[in-house]
Amino acid sequence: MAANIENRKNNNSCIDMASDEARRDLRNAFGSFTTGVTVIITREANGTPRGFTANSFTSVSLDPPMLLICIAKSAHSLLEFKRCSHFSVNILSEDQREISGLFASKKKEKFKLVDWHSGFSDIPLISGAIATFVCRRERIVNAGDHDVLIGEVKDYTTTPGAPLGYFKGSYFTLGLDQPLVSAANSRGFIKLGGIVSQEGKVLLCVDDQGNVSVPLAPESSPNVDALSAKLSNLGLHPELDFLYSVYTDSETERKGIFYHGTVKGVAPVGYAYFPLRDMPLDKVRDVSERSALGRYAHEYRHGTFGIYHGNETSGTVQQVSKIKPSIF
Ligand SMILES: Cc1cc2nc3c(=O)[nH]c(=O)nc-3n(C[C@H](O)[C@H](O)[C@H](O)COP(=O)(O)O)c2cc1C
Repeated sequence: MAANIENRKNNNSCIDMASDEARRDLRNAFGSFTTGVTVIITREANGTPRGFTANSFTSVSLDPPMLLICIAKSAHSLLEFKRCSHFSVNILSEDQREISGLFASKKKEKFKLVDWHSGFSDIPLISGAIATFVCRRERIVNAGDHDVLIGEVKDYTTTPGAPLGYFKGSYFTLGLDQPLVSAANSRGFIKLGGIVSQEGKVLLCVDDQGNVSVPLAPESSPNVDALSAKLSNLGLHPELDFLYSVYTDSETERKGIFYHGTVKGVAPVGYAYFPLRDMPLDKVRDVSERSALGRYAHEYRHGTFGIYHGNETSGTVQQVSKIKPSIF
């Protein structure tokens, strides 16, 4: 935010956090750090479990094993954590988004709505979490509008699984790589392509009839490395950054897997760059490519990208990142 930058310049180093806008802006800047999501749990003196969602978890020390979480001084459960002897940290899996929402709420009956069990020292643990740590409360450090709760790890568990991610106020999951893995292992034909752009223009292959398609990896090796190598051999500099769309044609069982990325270099023979505003979608014969390209143009305009997973009639898009479009 320009006002803050100005303020810092004038005031040497101090940022004025008095306004809601300034706080929102700083929270957003802190939110650039991608985290997982945890639920922190303890028991009240009478045994009632208390817990809240936290993404401020950080490992601190291996020997002795220590970790920390920052608790807002406004949290209703703060007092319980200040006087507890033990607490647990539960790292949520990608399918536990609702649990995160539940424990971020002020609902009274949180523990009636989730599966949990007791762990070391009778501290509740969330069933299905990909890792849990039970800690002895080591100390609480006063830090502005939060307290830092430091714990010594007394017991922990890990379970295979993908984590729930959190970035700039939105959840995301990495687990969509799983359909990719099963697609790669499936017997049906797999097509792996890249939706790669340079300064608001998408690189497409153009055939003799003027039909277009996204650049594809060789059929014999449908993987990202093979696609990158193919584009590099054409004199281009591709950077494929994330999985953009996993598509299954329900009739043919064909899989279409498209990666998102950027590319630098002059379009080689048989390829051309098409402005996103004016993509020849009617010349894209493959329905999965057409829908992925149409969505790409839309998302580029709005600066928000998602991962699509589904088929030709239905699917889900999960937001993964926001960019500032360089054009439009
Ligand atoms: C993804 C996410 C991360 C959060 N991280 C923290 C955190 O690190 N520390 C914190 O005090 N509150 C955090 N919160 C907010 C608390 O979960 C929320 O204020 C909760 O209601 C506190 O519960 P309580 O008031 O019953 O103690 C987070 C919320 C969400 C959705």
